Amino acid sequence: MVEQLKEGVYWVGVVDWGLRHFHGHELSTHRGSSYNAYLIRDEKNVLVDTVWGPFAEEFMENLRRVIDPADLDIVVANHAEVDHSGALPAIMEAAPNATLVVSKNGARSIEGYYHAGWDVKVVGTGDTIDIGRNSLAFVEAPMLHWPDSMFTYLTGHNILMPNDAFGQHYATAFRFNDQVNRKELFEEALKYYVNILTPYSDRVLKKIDELLEMDLAVDIIAPSHGVIWRDEPLQIVEKYREWARQEPQPYVAILYDTMWHATRRMAEAIGDGLAEEGVDHKLLHMAVTDRNDALVEVFKAHTVVVGSPTVNFGILPTVTPILEDLRGLKFKNKIGAAFGSYGWSGESVKLIEEHFDKCGIPLACKGIRCQWQPAEDDLAACREFGRNLAGPTRDV
Ligand code: FEO
Repeated sequence: MVEQLKEGVYWVGVVDWGLRHFHGHELSTHRGSSYNAYLIRDEKNVLVDTVWGPFAEEFMENLRRVIDPADLDIVVANHAEVDHSGALPAIMEAAPNATLVVSKNGARSIEGYYHAGWDVKVVGTGDTIDIGRNSLAFVEAPMLHWPDSMFTYLTGHNILMPNDAFGQHYATAFRFNDQVNRKELFEEALKYYVNILTPYSDRVLKKIDELLEMDLAVDIIAPSHGVIWRDEPLQIVEKYREWARQEPQPYVAILYDTMWHATRRMAEAIGDGLAEEGVDHKLLHMAVTDRNDALVEVFKAHTVVVGSPTVNFGILPTVTPILEDLRGLKFKNKIGAAFGSYGWSGESVKLIEEHFDKCGIPLACKGIRCQWQPAEDDLAACREFGRNLAGPTRDV
């Protein structure tokens, strides 16, 4: 399948309907994904990015519908991660005269992945390459989301190809944002932002300001995953600005696991206390809830409450992964609280509170514990705990 974006500019990527996990099993992709590559036919023929290796053959077939790969003059690798560079070996073999264009960090990462000794042309922000009627202009975008990430802009057609930025893991029948379900599109765009870009939110804001200062006309934003933004393309830029500010909602994400339902009953009682005060919340049972979806709820929330019973002097291993995400994703503007049941030693609450400290999430209040199964007065204390969280939660 090939799709024309503008005269002489084509999507030549691959839709991966079956993908359910990305980065190995780090990120869930319930709606699949796509690996977007773009062909520009001008006096020079340019390919921007490729696809993941298992789809290299399909990608080469797509490309051959429009051009003999041997006629490529320039191949731009905006980012070395293999979902975009996986078909580079096939392309570089089929296009022996093509110049491989990368960022300075890309020169290192591409060689590190492929050990191919390809000659590369290194470009940086402000560099341009004349391709005939139009030019390519480059903007380095380190940590959006890797040190090697780069945006390529096509003058004349005013197409920004920002690689991972502004993308979504979203397999669709159609290629453009005005052709797909808007609710699904923004759910996937947000999940992608939360799970991939949140730690770099300050850089996102700076890069957006830098792009706006360049005063580039933008008709199309063509990312490397998901749909292409042609209808009001700057709407996703505005969304990124909003998300990068990490302004929380007066909402509580209660993450917990339970062994014999004591911690679950505590979670529900805390939720009841919040509800009594009119504060919205979700209970996320981490043994059966997708971690990446739960992180979207954490991203929205001002207050994150984590609960685990004590087991083996620690917390349940089903709660540990999301604690590691809270550390790595460096969420801002949040407060935390801990709870949990125990039978004998009872360390879980203290351990969760120590972890909040490592995450830079201040505690809203001292955590609450309950020994054995909660009695009526324990549940009443949990409801009060919830009611007491309502004020700080609203204080966003
Ligand atoms: Fe950073 Fe889509 O790879």
